[in-house]
Amino acid sequence: MPRRKMEMEDLSPLGKYKEGMEWNPVEKVIYERRSIRSFKKEPLPDSMIRRILEAGRFAPSAGNQQPWKFLVVNNPEILAEMEQDAIRMAKKMMFFLDNSRSGFRKKYFSWYTKLMIRMLPNELHPVPFSLLKLIAEGKARVFHGAPTLVLLLQDKRGVSCPPLDMGICGQHMVLTAHSMGAGSCWIGLVKLLFYYPKWKKLFDIKWPYECNECIALGWPKGDFDGEVKREMQLVTWYEGGMDSPPRIERQGG
Ligand SMILES: Cc1cc2nc3c(=O)[nH]c(=O)nc-3n(C[C@H](O)[C@H](O)[C@H](O)COP(=O)(O)O)c2cc1C
Repeated sequence: MPRRKMEMEDLSPLGKYKEGMEWNPVEKVIYERRSIRSFKKEPLPDSMIRRILEAGRFAPSAGNQQPWKFLVVNNPEILAEMEQDAIRMAKKMMFFLDNSRSGFRKKYFSWYTKLMIRMLPNELHPVPFSLLKLIAEGKARVFHGAPTLVLLLQDKRGVSCPPLDMGICGQHMVLTAHSMGAGSCWIGLVKLLFYYPKWKKLFDIKWPYECNECIALGWPKGDFDGEVKREMQLVTWYEGGMDSPPRIERQGG
């Protein structure tokens, strides 16, 4: 991945390619975006939020089905209650699932933890599991104090793979936010809230919709996390015809 930070005047023009050229503005936005986990209290202007939503609305989707709906939450009282309830749920989950807290629990309840991990393999993957633990211990926040949350509702009837459409749609918003100087963070842990029927009721989330992701938006505060390393990828190139072995090339790293 190119690393050098550049000024706008260094950028290559869009729609042109020359080997070794500097980033163009789209690449600059992609490479310089970071997840922001600390926000100023003051929200983004509504006009800016609308522009970010518009980039999501314009995202491609399988069969142009646009299997999404967006909810914008910027009321401090609702945001505070969302944070509290998400923390409450993280604590509950840790109470039942974290068997590392005592030898007794480890001995007699590890079967239960294993069963739950089998049932919710993505939610209880070690990465979100350790974040849940930090949240339950009061060492991390769920929504990072963002003054605005955009909840992404997915229409389960979308063709092909609606979660993929949702990812593309949300990433349009995230990149647009960064291009305008705003900070954003995907919050998959928003799912914690929907174990409480009250939130589905408040946001009127009914079949065929469900909410699996949200995007925190606001003005970044302070220094944000440095670059998060990406793995080097071994990419297989099939370029020599049907009888030639493919060539493996290192990408990035
Ligand atoms: C679908 C998705 C869900 C995520 N959920 C969370 C989350 O709940 N909380 C959080 O702090 N970060 C969340 N993240 C942010 C990732 O941790 C982050 O994108 C990753 O560590 C790479 O860092 P970067 O975005 O700064 O490049 C999520 C990212 C994605 C794409």
